[in-house]
Amino acid sequence: MKFLGSMKNVDGVLEIGGISVKKLKEDFGTPLYIYDLELLQKKIRDIKNSFKSEKFNTTVVYASKAYLSKGMAQVINREGLHIDAVSAGELYTILSSGFPSKRVHMHGNNKSLEELNMCVEREIGSIILDNRFEAEKVAQICKRVGKKMDVMLRLNIGIDAHTHEYIKTAKHTSKFGESIFDKEIENIVKDIVEKKELNFLGFHCHIGSQIFDELAFCEGVKTMVQFTKKVSEKLDIKIPEINIGGGFGVRYTEEDTDADLKKMMKKIIISLEENLLAENLSVENVIIEPGRSIVAAAGSTLYTVGGEKKTFGGEKYVFIDGGMTDNIRPALYSAKYESVVANRLNESKKELVTIAGKCCESGDIIAKNTKLGKCSEGDLVLVSCTGAYGHSMSSNYNKALTPAVVFVKDGKSYLVSKRESYEDLIKNDFDLIESI
Ligand code: LLP
Repeated sequence: MKFLGSMKNVDGVLEIGGISVKKLKEDFGTPLYIYDLELLQKKIRDIKNSFKSEKFNTTVVYASKAYLSKGMAQVINREGLHIDAVSAGELYTILSSGFPSKRVHMHGNNKSLEELNMCVEREIGSIILDNRFEAEKVAQICKRVGKKMDVMLRLNIGIDAHTHEYIKTAKHTSKFGESIFDKEIENIVKDIVEKKELNFLGFHCHIGSQIFDELAFCEGVKTMVQFTKKVSEKLDIKIPEINIGGGFGVRYTEEDTDADLKKMMKKIIISLEENLLAENLSVENVIIEPGRSIVAAAGSTLYTVGGEKKTFGGEKYVFIDGGMTDNIRPALYSAKYESVVANRLNESKKELVTIAGKCCESGDIIAKNTKLGKCSEGDLVLVSCTGAYGHSMSSNYNKALTPAVVFVKDGKSYLVSKRESYEDLIKNDFDLIESI
C-alpha cells in the first residue's frame, strides 16, 4: 500500500496525523473512517492555487456528495471554497454547519418543489437548472416570495469520457442536462434569459467521474466555450460564467495513473485561455466542481480482523468488521483498493487474500485477490483512499451501524461524526403490534 499524506510507520504500527491506528481504535472503535486533515487541506489548496488565471476569475466548488458532514463543510468553508448540494439533505447539512448560503450551489436532475423553495428562501448562491421545466418552477417560486435567483443551465455536451459506465454522465442518453444537439436548445436558453425572476449566469457541464484523460477535459472546455460564444451571439447577451464540473481522477492502486492534480488544473486553465482567445470570447468567471480529487486520498478506513478462512475452492478470506455497508464501491463498480495490516507493518511476508465484510451477500468484498501481510483475529486492516463516496454511499444493510468519522492532524483527533447506535437504527420505527 502506498503511504499517503501523513501516514508513517512507527515501530511497525501505522500512524496517521501523528496518531497510531491502535490508539484510534481504542478511542473510537472500528470500523472507523479516518481523515488526514493536513492532506485534505493540501488537496484543497493545491486545486485552489493552481486553478487560477489572469484572464478570468475562478471558483472552486467542492462537490459535497463525495463526503459530507458538518465538520467537512466547516473545513471547506474555512478554506474559502464554495460547496454544492444535490438534495435538501445535503443543503440542510451544509447550512447547519454555518456555511454562508451565498457560496452554496444546488444541483439535481429532479429537484423537488420543497428543495427549490429551500434554495430560494435560504438565498443560496445559484441553482444549476437541469432542464427546461425547472426554470419555470424556480421563476414561480421567486415570483411568490419576491426574490431573484442566479441560475446556470446544465448541458449534456456529448463527450463520452473514459470511466466506469455508471459514472459517465455526458453520453447522449444520459439523464442529466439538456443536450447541445437538441434543436430547441437556443429557445430553452432564451426562455430562461427572458424570465425576469432569474439571472442567467451561463452553462454547466460535467463529463463524468474518475477521469484521467486531460484531452477529455480540454475537449469539454472547447465545446463549452464554442457553445457559449454561439448562444451569446445568437441571443445577443453577455454570458459571464462557465462551469466545467468535476471528475478529476485519483490513484487508488498501482493500476491507476498517479495523476498530478496541479498539472491537470494548469492544463485546463491553458485550454480555457486558448479557446476563449480563439473564439474571441471573454468570461468573468470559470467554475470547477471537484469532489473525489479533494477528499479521496485523505480518507482511509480502519477495520478489525475477525478471522480468516480458506475455502474448499481455494479462496483465502480475511474477514473484517465492516464491508459493503461502509464502502459499496468494490461491489458496485469493481473498484480496487490497497490495504495493509496496520499494526504489523514490519512483517514482510505477504499473501494473496480476499478481504470480505460481514454482510449476508457474496459480493460483500472490499478487495479481491489483494496482497496483504499475515494477519489474524484482532489485527487491524487499513484500506486507503476511501475518503470519497465511501461514507456518503454507506448503508444500514443488515442493520450495520454507520461508523464514526474522525479527523486527525498533528497528534490530535477530532470526532466529526459518532458511530451510530442501536437506538439510532430504530428511532423512526413505531410499534405496530398494539394497533393491529
Ligand atoms: N459535479 C457534478 C455535477 C457531479 O455530478 C459530480 C459527481 C461532481 C461534480 C464531482 O465529481 P468528482 O470530482 O467527485 O468525480 N459514486 C461514484 C461517483 C459519482 C459521481 C457523481 N457525480 C463513485 O463512487 O465513483
